[in-house]
Amino acid sequence: MGSPGLKKARDKMAAAGVDEVAIETFAHYYRLLEHGETGMIPESAIEPVDMPSLASVDVDPEEGAAALRATVVIKLNGGLGTSMGMDRAKSLLCVRRGLSFLDIIARQVLHLRKEHDATLPLLFMNSFRTSADTMAALARYADLPVEGLPLEFLQNKEPKLLAKDLSPATWPKDPALEWCPPGHGDLYTALRGTGLLDRLIERGYRYVFVSNSDNLGAVPDPRVAGWFAGSGAPFAIEAVRRTPSDRKGGHFARRTTSGRIVLRETAQTLPEDLDALADLDRHKFCSTNNLWFDLAAMKAALDERDGVLGLPLIRNVKTLDPGDSSTPEVIQIETAMGAAVEVFEGTQLIEVGRDRFVPVKTTNDLLVLRSDVYDIGRDFVLDQIATEIPYVDLDAHYYKLVADFDKRFPEGAPSMRKAQSLKVGGDWTFGHGVQVVGDVSLSAAAAQRIPADTVLADG
Ligand code: UTP
Repeated sequence: MGSPGLKKARDKMAAAGVDEVAIETFAHYYRLLEHGETGMIPESAIEPVDMPSLASVDVDPEEGAAALRATVVIKLNGGLGTSMGMDRAKSLLCVRRGLSFLDIIARQVLHLRKEHDATLPLLFMNSFRTSADTMAALARYADLPVEGLPLEFLQNKEPKLLAKDLSPATWPKDPALEWCPPGHGDLYTALRGTGLLDRLIERGYRYVFVSNSDNLGAVPDPRVAGWFAGSGAPFAIEAVRRTPSDRKGGHFARRTTSGRIVLRETAQTLPEDLDALADLDRHKFCSTNNLWFDLAAMKAALDERDGVLGLPLIRNVKTLDPGDSSTPEVIQIETAMGAAVEVFEGTQLIEVGRDRFVPVKTTNDLLVLRSDVYDIGRDFVLDQIATEIPYVDLDAHYYKLVADFDKRFPEGAPSMRKAQSLKVGGDWTFGHGVQVVGDVSLSAAAAQRIPADTVLADG
């Protein structure tokens, strides 16, 4: 049914063994794409939303631990970190002392299990591109798998569509490039399609905590688990207060008609509403993508809708080979996990501290994480040592891709505990033990190798 492009895409998915509901879900979004659906949320349809803060809620430690014992942890690990020039999972990158994101996540969970006598299963949602590497890296943690549950489940895959006619792209040279994961909104489809949703419920788990594997602040903390369990909500997202650097990004709001909470992304904002989007006094909170849901409520919502939650469509335009701009332009149909916030009546939001939101989206973020701004404690939780997180701006020409970045910090990151900002223009290489103090700006004209133990101070 439908256009020739959709038929070809469906056939291609079926031939590759993609499950029925995932194909139906893809077809649903394909039709939206074909009809030029934009998912716009006008300012006139929403009002600002307020929320309690984690710091001000009382959670009984026993109730927190009990909630943790009924919780399953899922890490989103299907993305490729293409904006940092990676074609593998970002979580394989080393953070420090030979520990990768994956090592730290595994150790955070193992520590909490011991501390609270919780089973706390840890599941990675991988894509066909991230599975093998991730599982190989986790093999050293013999205690990590929980009996009867896998350590990973695979998200679905869908064809990249040629922008010119929305037909599935073909690339015989490297057929893997013809496919993409459908964004992290696929979590719900994949959990249901793999049968895991039912299995987790049968085993007596009640809550799921999901977060990005590139956010090491997203610890399944018993206080947050206790708050969520006590709220009785079907679904919740942890929010942080927006800062000037979040001005261009999405935010939470409430739909005036339904009273439901929504997440409005920049792509869903009309040009005339961009000032309102950027107004930090009006729209105060953005999402951490740390999300909690009640397993039974999720099952009911999916069953009611034959497995298709109907999240807003994200039309992601890329080149077929993300590393080669001469390859054809393609559209990737995606959805975002947090958009499910509007599906549930009674969704809750909670404001958390920035300690729960340490995303690594760029090499600027990676430099801070690799420096001594944070300590990693015995519980493997990041402990911010510096009074403020320095602002880092590295010359994109030399540092944007991880491989280029690594070449310029061969001895590791400088000390940035006392830094306020570090701006690097041009091709500088950092020697061992360099210290950054205050506001430091390096200009392209003077670019050189910085000798070991140099102190770079203001000016
Ligand atoms: P992002 O959308 O921020 O993507 O994903 P990313 O991995 O940083 O990649 P680029 O640079 O945009 O290509 C947030 C989290 O969601 C996961 C990612 O692995 C990351 O942990 N994710 C993203 C999935 O699990 N599946 C997807 O289809 C997309």
